[in-house]
Amino acid sequence: MGIQISPSILSSDFAHLADEAERISGADWLHVDVMDNHFVPNLTLGAPVVEALAKASSTPIDCHLMIEDPDRWAPAFVEAGAGSVTFHVEAATAPVRLARELRSLGARAGMGLRPATAVEPYEDLLPELDILLVMTVEPGFGGQAFLDMCLPKVRRARTLIDKHGLDLWLQVDGGVSLETIERCAEAGADTFVAGSAVFGADDPNAMIESLRATAADRA
Ligand code: DX5
Ligand code: ZN
Repeated sequence: MGIQISPSILSSDFAHLADEAERISGADWLHVDVMDNHFVPNLTLGAPVVEALAKASSTPIDCHLMIEDPDRWAPAFVEAGAGSVTFHVEAATAPVRLARELRSLGARAGMGLRPATAVEPYEDLLPELDILLVMTVEPGFGGQAFLDMCLPKVRRARTLIDKHGLDLWLQVDGGVSLETIERCAEAGADTFVAGSAVFGADDPNAMIESLRATAADRA
């Protein structure tokens, strides 16, 4: 699949979401951060807004659920039109069952790891997934500083994915910019979420292409 860029609308103007989606027409995915004020100390939006965005934009939606009890709530985001749905393993009761359910509904199934969550305990679960998300900030807010301490985990995740010959996208999210994306790509990430770097740029599509080219150089 190569390098994929998924701009996070968390850094966009929430009063004009459809227009903001239009500004990143060169993106592979539209990353939508769902926060419930419990799993993270911030509240954003839910399935009805995802449904409206899916209708308004031709870019597929990459839903990142930072919510408690994803076992209960995640399937509704597939029904709302998301092409991929990522839940956090720290919040899931039955991640295998949930990943299978997301796939059976027709979405790519993603599983996210907070910075303090190791990847090794989930080695046997990786074949159940389409996306492994390694957070490179503590989830909750855009515009935070990139955590270099997460890069060894990206490297270890890449080793596990290759060892099992899996077609699994390795996504990083948090503090990804022109300054940090090379380190992520070099560590083995292939899917990059970027919020403030893209929506803070004068020309978001040009920034997407610069990020893509910089990552491809190092991949
Ligand atoms: C943080 C979110 C990210 C956030 C990234 O909890 O999951 O997707 O929007 O924003 P930046 O790229 O600004 O760190
Ligand atoms: Zn996110």
